[in-house]
Amino acid sequence: MALNHAAKGLVLLLVTASVLAIGQAKTIVVGGTEGWRYGFNYTDWAIQNTPFYIEDKLVFKYDPPSDTNSLAYGVYKLPNLDSYLSCNFSSAEVLANSTQGVGNGFEVSLNEWKPYYFASYGVDANHCNDGHMKFFAVPWPHNN
Ligand SMILES: *[C@@H]1O[C@H](CO)[C@@H](O)[C@H](O)[C@H]1NC(C)=O
Ligand SMILES: *[C@@H]1O[C@H](CO)[C@@H](O)[C@H](O)[C@H]1NC(C)=O
Ligand SMILES: *[C@@H]1O[C@H](CO)[C@@H](O)[C@H](O)[C@H]1NC(C)=O
Repeated sequence: MALNHAAKGLVLLLVTASVLAIGQAKTIVVGGTEGWRYGFNYTDWAIQNTPFYIEDKLVFKYDPPSDTNSLAYGVYKLPNLDSYLSCNFSSAEVLANSTQGVGNGFEVSLNEWKPYYFASYGVDANHCNDGHMKFFAVPWPHNN
């Protein structure tokens, strides 16, 4: 009986520890070594890199437009789930233009406990619709 209680306590502790942040805020490069580009599945990436925590920083790294790459990536924040699902940019906020992700990348701090909807636009939202360049992150509060 006592052991059973202890075991339950341990499970609860482990679950709690995995949900509440322990330690330092992280800096996470979106897409890892792939960076921010057309054709990589960022929904999948976000699922695999969950959970995020408040004060974590996401870094978007992407190539600038060039003669061989006319894609003009950018980082937009979409206002809500509907606009995210339908890639509707009419009320989107531009976070980073086509050159701000070059080099060290463009950093976004996840400061609030709310969903952040990210996407790239391209031409007629093709980056978002066809290029899979969208994901959302809900940062969890810290434990301390
Ligand atoms: C991207 O990944 C998500 C989550 O794993 C999956 O549901 C979706 O089908 C993938 N999209 C494509 C186009 O492969
Ligand atoms: C896109 O979102 C705006 C509000 O942000 C809305 O007025 C408009 O109807 C939406 N467009 C479509 C095609 O859903
Ligand atoms: C992108 O934004 C930066 C910083 O505001 C600015 O210096 C740069 O000229 C912009 N680049 C383009 C292509 O608009």
